[in-house]
Amino acid sequence: MPMPYAYFQKQFVPLAEAKIGIMTHAFLYGTATFEGIRGNWNEDVRQIYLFRVQDHFRRLHRSCRILKIDLPYTVEELTDLTVRLVEMCGYAEDVYIRPIAYKSSEVIGVRMHNLEDDFLAFVYPFGPYLDIEKGIRCMTSSWRRVEDVGIPARAKVNGLYVNSALAKTEAQENGYDEAIMLDMDGHVSEGSGENIFIVVDGRLYTPPPTDNILVGITRDSVIRLAADELGIETVERSIDRSELYVADECFMTGTAAHVSAVVEVDRRPIGDGRVGPVTAHLQKLYFDVVRGKNSKYAHWCTAASPKLQPAGRQG
Ligand SMILES: Cc1ncc(COP(=O)(O)O)c(C=O)c1O
Repeated sequence: MPMPYAYFQKQFVPLAEAKIGIMTHAFLYGTATFEGIRGNWNEDVRQIYLFRVQDHFRRLHRSCRILKIDLPYTVEELTDLTVRLVEMCGYAEDVYIRPIAYKSSEVIGVRMHNLEDDFLAFVYPFGPYLDIEKGIRCMTSSWRRVEDVGIPARAKVNGLYVNSALAKTEAQENGYDEAIMLDMDGHVSEGSGENIFIVVDGRLYTPPPTDNILVGITRDSVIRLAADELGIETVERSIDRSELYVADECFMTGTAAHVSAVVEVDRRPIGDGRVGPVTAHLQKLYFDVVRGKNSKYAHWCTAASPKLQPAGRQG
């Protein structure tokens, strides 16, 4: 039986024991930054492959610089700790790892300075997040993406996700699967938890980092796979809302969402309203890569071998 563990206050503890106090600064003010990392189960070799885990921790370090959080672990230490945590939990299925660097002082007072910092991580069994087979239906949100001059989207700030949550709930309560947020200039920014691409005349287009996106690791993977495996160039430039309506194909990328086709936006079918050929090709490539089935991209996958551990604290 799998046994959930967390890394909390510098040790491995059963998940149920990992509790923060109600006065924790990060809880009071959202002063924390996180990552979402996928561990993809490969049944053939019975291993979990952590996808681009070092790149996630590099991004976490960058987010910490923006939030003035001291993260006293190297990328290698964070990777080793995560592999150990995944192995300890013993899940034989797809998992999602949530590391968080946060302001841990139990104190009132909104600021970033003169506070203690801490780091935690936990593992969560996690299957598909969006409908990969059929594709998803999206609406342009009435909520605008938070701008870099407000809360920088390039840092994965916990408090920033109120923006995403408002947009996602609006979309789902209106019968859609996902929201597409525009920035203050009216350009397409991203989904509530995904980057967005369109396919036009055999080229990919995606908003640049300066259009208030989280610079996604899946986004980067898809750009590289498209170039190196399909010979398709990606142009990073601002995208108007109406360009979505007339695109040949549209898809979203993200750790949770993988590569998900967008088949409808604002009640208009994209292309013929089905998963398009470029999207389907990228999906196939991507799923082989993240499950460690493409040796050319083995350097993107870090293997973890889940095993059962006796319950109790681990040193
Ligand atoms: C707002 C937002 N944009 C984009 C992404 C995609 O980033 P990545 O591919 O690194 O998971 C995510 C998910 O992490 C996200 O939350």
